[in-house]
Amino acid sequence: MQNRLENLRNEIDKLIDKEDPDKFRMYISHMCGVARFCTLLSMKRNLNIELATTCGMLHDICYMTGGSSDNHAIKGAEQAKSILDEMNQYSDHEITLITTAISRHSDKSKIHDQYDELLKDADVMDHCLYNAGFPVSEWEMKRYNNLLNEFGLASC
Ligand SMILES: [Fe+2]
Repeated sequence: MQNRLENLRNEIDKLIDKEDPDKFRMYISHMCGVARFCTLLSMKRNLNIELATTCGMLHDICYMTGGSSDNHAIKGAEQAKSILDEMNQYSDHEITLITTAISRHSDKSKIHDQYDELLKDADVMDHCLYNAGFPVSEWEMKRYNNLLNEFGLASC
């Protein structure tokens, strides 16, 4: 059986912007952090672990390949679609699920479908847990407190 996550990691390795070592470290750290939280949340919420992890790995592909923050969720979803189409290992349904989650991941104040919410929550978890000193928006804080409750941890 193909290991699609490893194949995808190889594809991302080829595309990621490696010019600035600091940015490169940040991209990898955030990608791995969000992907792992997607894995954990999919286990907690009985969703597909592989597809959830894929959403996390690709969610900031626009940034990671040197794109700007402007509309990065929508542009990233288009890039992710091209990557997944080209790999030829994903069904149309899977590609739609993954790219929809990526396209909506900046809309932290809205509630969408299960995988969209999982990706937003994983992004918030990485943001909040990476460095507690970083500023956090009101909507991120709401999500973060809900996540602490979901995992049975006291909110701070
Ligand atoms: Fe992110």
